[in-house]
Amino acid sequence: MVSIKSPSLVSVSREQALLSVGCLTVVLLAFLLVRQLVKQRRPPGFPPGPSPIPVIGNILSLATEPHVFLKTQSEVHGQIFSIDLGGILTVVLNGYDCVRECLYHQSEVFADRPSLPLFKKMTKMGGLLNCKYGRGWIEHRKLACNSFRYFGSGQRQFERKISEECMFFVDAIDEHKGKPFNPKHLVTNAVSNITNLIIFGQRFTYDDRNFQHMIEIFSENVELAVSGWALLYNAFPWIEYVPFGKHQKLFRNAAEVYDFLLEVINGFSQGRVPHVPRHYVDAYLDELEQNAGDPSSSFSYENLIYSVGELIIAGTETTTNTLRWAMLYMALYPNIQERVHREIDSVLANGRAPTLEDKQKMPYVEAVLHEVLRFCNIVPLGIFRATSQDANVNGYTIPKGTMVITNLYSVHFDEKYWNDPGVFSPQRFLDSNGNFVRREAFLPFSLGRRQCLGEQLAKMEMFLFFTTLLQRFHLQFPPGTVPTVTPKLGMTLQPKPYSICAVRRQQKSPSSNTPYDNCKGDKRLCSERTSWEHKCANDLALCSSELL
Ligand code: HEM
Repeated sequence: MVSIKSPSLVSVSREQALLSVGCLTVVLLAFLLVRQLVKQRRPPGFPPGPSPIPVIGNILSLATEPHVFLKTQSEVHGQIFSIDLGGILTVVLNGYDCVRECLYHQSEVFADRPSLPLFKKMTKMGGLLNCKYGRGWIEHRKLACNSFRYFGSGQRQFERKISEECMFFVDAIDEHKGKPFNPKHLVTNAVSNITNLIIFGQRFTYDDRNFQHMIEIFSENVELAVSGWALLYNAFPWIEYVPFGKHQKLFRNAAEVYDFLLEVINGFSQGRVPHVPRHYVDAYLDELEQNAGDPSSSFSYENLIYSVGELIIAGTETTTNTLRWAMLYMALYPNIQERVHREIDSVLANGRAPTLEDKQKMPYVEAVLHEVLRFCNIVPLGIFRATSQDANVNGYTIPKGTMVITNLYSVHFDEKYWNDPGVFSPQRFLDSNGNFVRREAFLPFSLGRRQCLGEQLAKMEMFLFFTTLLQRFHLQFPPGTVPTVTPKLGMTLQPKPYSICAVRRQQKSPSSNTPYDNCKGDKRLCSERTSWEHKCANDLALCSSELL
């Protein structure tokens, strides 16, 4: 009896179990769907916007050229409107007036960063760039600003160090002997070395494979951070457990970058003398030790790694892309390049190296660099912000903690402030006498509390790298080729890889102030890059006195 009945009993309970699991799944899915739909409802007084698709919201609309899509939407819904990123209601600010009202007049209200799952996973909302607005951010921003001043632009020597890097850069380009090459690699190395000088007190050679690999995968993450997978991860963090997808690559890259940075930080902090900092890492370790007894201090080894990583990538990706765009547009518009050459030649007599003092005498170069920043929109959507308290803008109510996108592209293409914004024209930054004029609606570095911390440094770098490059070379595309100007999308807009020929246009003058000259003009003395660097990198005076 028992042996006959038990199989049927078992089969009934298995069916029942399956049914119960099925019912539970349906109830759970229905609950999640309702919860998602509730999250997608705009609260009263919230800015209007395009209708979202249930569950995924407007994510799909951001797949191609999100900055352009958002500007177009502002023409329908107004300068301030909202979109739904899979349940994350987000306010978008468009046009100069609206961006200024929020980021400048309500600076503190719009100073936070959103607590997105991706940021939480990457830097636990610590470090500097992604840090929540509060004590942690203040402490890290202050330390970084002081370090940039103390080890960077505030030092007279620093300009000379950038000029040295410029010479390494143009010499490396010269090795291509006017043949086509992709400048990305060299520009990235040269530019990152300026930040490296402040952070580690030293540069990395252009053949340092480990450093290059780190920069490559870090910059890949800048692209991946706004990929569809990253947006989906922010909306549905459980996809962390889906073993494929670009978000997994992002996590793997980040882990590798942090391991590398930890090693480098340990290396450069060797021989440190407390309270006598040689660079940012030393200064940070001093703060860490001084605040060791304060449990609410934000200085930690983990935050040191995050902030070092953020400073390196924020400084490298942006300035590199600006210079790569500038090179591309010079080759694309030979008449503009010719005018740049004429100005450089007239100011830098006898081929002497440019200095920052020359900047005022070169309004056209300034105009070109400004137009590149405006037209190319290096960081088109800024870095995502959030409201630190309830806000009121143009009659709309935005609750505390709402994610905010600042469409800087829409500022630079704002028809109220720019004539023919879609035309590349350096002339718009010049008055009728050819003097450089500042333009109000020019915000490549954003505005307000979280405004770019490296603006001064970036301006120094761009001017010195660009003038040194154009002083020595004529830039042209390989015969029969014209690269696309359609950008590669990511957090930053960069040109798609292109080849260019840098054709030498003047001999190095014996009177020019180059690293070689400090070696008495005898290139052989400096021909071994590494040994020259070893001797001269930190102090050119030492190099020349040794050689004398
Ligand atoms: C052409 C070059 C550059 C451009 C166009 C640029 C642009 C920007 C933009 C748009 C932001 C977002 C600000 C916001 O939240 O509204 C930003 C933030 C930031 N930038 Fe830059 N940047 C450049 C160079 C640099 C350099 C050279 C460094 C440092 C080495 C740097 C470090 C930072 C940091 C740390 C932040 C975050 C500031 C904070 O959250 O308090 N940037 N930058």
